[in-house]
Amino acid sequence: MTTTAPANPYLAGNYGPVAEEITTTDLEVRGRLPEALTGRYLRTGPNPNGAPPQPYHWFLGDGMIHGIELAGGRAGWYRNRWVRTGELTTKLGAPAVDGPAQPMYDASNTNVLGFAGRILSLTEGCYPYELSRELDTLRRFMPTAGDLPHGLTAHPKVDPVTGDLHGFSYWFVEPYLYYHVIRPDGTVAVSEPITLPRSVSMHDFAITRDHVLFFDQPYVFDLDIAMQQGFPFRWAPEHGARLGVLPRTGTDADIRWFDTETCYCFHPMNAYEGADNTIVVDVPKMDGVGSGAAPTPNKLSLERWTVDLNAGLVKQTVLDDTPQEFCRVNESLLGSPHRFGYTIGTGMGADDMPYASTRVFKHDLVAATRADHDFGPGCHPGELVFVADPERASAEDGGWCMGLVHDDATMRTRLVVLDAQDFAGSPVAEVMLPTRVPYGFHGNWVPDTLA
Ligand SMILES: [Fe+2]
Repeated sequence: MTTTAPANPYLAGNYGPVAEEITTTDLEVRGRLPEALTGRYLRTGPNPNGAPPQPYHWFLGDGMIHGIELAGGRAGWYRNRWVRTGELTTKLGAPAVDGPAQPMYDASNTNVLGFAGRILSLTEGCYPYELSRELDTLRRFMPTAGDLPHGLTAHPKVDPVTGDLHGFSYWFVEPYLYYHVIRPDGTVAVSEPITLPRSVSMHDFAITRDHVLFFDQPYVFDLDIAMQQGFPFRWAPEHGARLGVLPRTGTDADIRWFDTETCYCFHPMNAYEGADNTIVVDVPKMDGVGSGAAPTPNKLSLERWTVDLNAGLVKQTVLDDTPQEFCRVNESLLGSPHRFGYTIGTGMGADDMPYASTRVFKHDLVAATRADHDFGPGCHPGELVFVADPERASAEDGGWCMGLVHDDATMRTRLVVLDAQDFAGSPVAEVMLPTRVPYGFHGNWVPDTLA
């Protein structure tokens, strides 16, 4: 009797890669694209080129950027391009890209965003790649002054007040963590080592007006696991979990650590200084992280954490126990109090794939209400990004939510634009793409004014 190894679900259906880079112009638009949207919607994810390494882990596939250019109410083009990482250029026999040597991973598959005229493609454990507006890989990001030990993780934050990029990197030897601040001119102004007790996977963080928050959670480095699953972290709840609060101008000696429930958090929604010497952070919390071809969550809910700096305690309150992730806000409020937050539904159970849901959510955290938009059977949304409408800029939700929706029936993907003030209503516009876009990770709007 012969047996066949179970197929890796992250290489099947719409998790599987597309084989070609294509360029298509003058896309079909249904509805009416707002003329204020002038720029590019960009989204990245893993898309292994050729035979993937075995064992294949979803987090390690070659990064591919998908882009849609919008201007004048039209959708000018769709492009998909692999990021020309060291591994990919070797595979393709293409010229190597200039820039600092990568410390570790080089997949560049997790996030893509605009920063001070640059388009950056990011993954933790390495230096970002700079891309052209047409998604060609230009170079690895090299600071104009200062050092960036171990690169930058995938979730740096552009401070809406200063324009600085706040980020961090983590590594496998002490001190395990660095906090970085990069000025718009590319100078590294801060690169502060932060001492952790062990090497952990730290995917994202949060900033407030005065502080930086780090999630020290027990998804720990393990070389044996790296050999088994290709991804070097395992869930080790015996280590507990802590939230670190660092004054923005502080050093390693100034960070305060607060115990929390043992949990893992991928993407905080936002954080800010609250009343009575508190810090508030809204964050989806997982009770644990499974292993395998991708980290599978155990029980996922959206919580509000209130850090009482006087009492030295964190109060955790469930805001919504519906599984959801990929939190976003109006990013002009990053670090400041927000009323509205946008998330996408995720699988309901540990055996579900991440994009099992057909719903996205708008939270009104003042009124404690939620608006749902359901794309219907077989239509699965990815992360939404909020884009402000200049004519409604005085309203926090005056703008649009944009994201990709994949239709299982047609095996095609579309870019959907929802009016954030009519979240449950019909989309304002849909841009029909000429291909499917494999499920991936993060997307952002990069207006012409920023890149
Ligand atoms: Fe992420």
